[in-house]
Amino acid sequence: MERERAAAFWEANAETWTQHSRAGYDVYRDNVNTPGFLAMLPPVAGLLGLDIGCGEGANTRSVARLGARMEAIDAAPTFVKHAADAERSEPLGITYGVGDAQALPFPDGRFDFATAFMVFMDVPDYRAALAEAHRVVRPGGFLQFSILHPCFVPPHRRVVRDAAGVPHTIEVARYFDKIDGEVERWKFSAAPEAVQEVTEPFATPLFHHTLSEWLNAVIDAGFSLERIGEPSVDEATAARVPSVADSRIAPLFLHVRGRK
Ligand SMILES: C[S@@+](CC[C@H](N)C(=O)[O-])C[C@H]1O[C@@H](n2cnc3c(N)ncnc32)[C@H](O)[C@@H]1O
Repeated sequence: MERERAAAFWEANAETWTQHSRAGYDVYRDNVNTPGFLAMLPPVAGLLGLDIGCGEGANTRSVARLGARMEAIDAAPTFVKHAADAERSEPLGITYGVGDAQALPFPDGRFDFATAFMVFMDVPDYRAALAEAHRVVRPGGFLQFSILHPCFVPPHRRVVRDAAGVPHTIEVARYFDKIDGEVERWKFSAAPEAVQEVTEPFATPLFHHTLSEWLNAVIDAGFSLERIGEPSVDEATAARVPSVADSRIAPLFLHVRGRK
């Protein structure tokens, strides 16, 4: 899929995505991915960081609150607008701009570190995105990113539940399929039914690569692998937010940190 076409899908999703994630419907981000990502992040206070694919900026703000000086880009202007609006109402010193992860608008070695929360599996050229992250980080700096777990969220994943609706098995398939921009249509399942009824589904282009392709691409970009994470929730969180209980059976997210 062409880069511009893939980005256009995200721009079309951005308004509703911002409203729904700010309403708390992105329960996997809020309860699984972000807490695990931040727990794995090394100290960033005083460092200059770039958040790649920032969306409406919630995760950029979380990293800024840890003391980092943050800049952030996203391919979708509507996400960038909402992120910048949030910066105006609660200033954290973050600079936002429109940009493509596969061709970052920054000079070599500008940043101490880069983050990318759930972005690189959404771009047509993941190897270019990793190479660009490597280019803009200084020697000794790091990239930490999260993606859908290639092994447990390949193009086919089905949560198998018992009669009471409790998940007990994850069914996966199509792990080795080459997927280049297959468009998935879906809604945040945590949104109330009344909201879902009046909401057009998100259309997101899917790009799947195997675990070895991902890790080899990180290494080929020039990073040394430093840390890997597969976040899950504890029993109390699963009881409070039952829809994320499947992360206790097999992980949905893979977190990777590479050092330049
Ligand atoms: C799943 S959302 C994650 C947003 C945000 N990082 C978060 O965790 O809330 C994927 C984000 O990647 C952005 N994106 C997709 N392709 C991109 C590209 N080529 N360059 C920059 N951002 C891109 C989308 O616009 C969207 O904001």
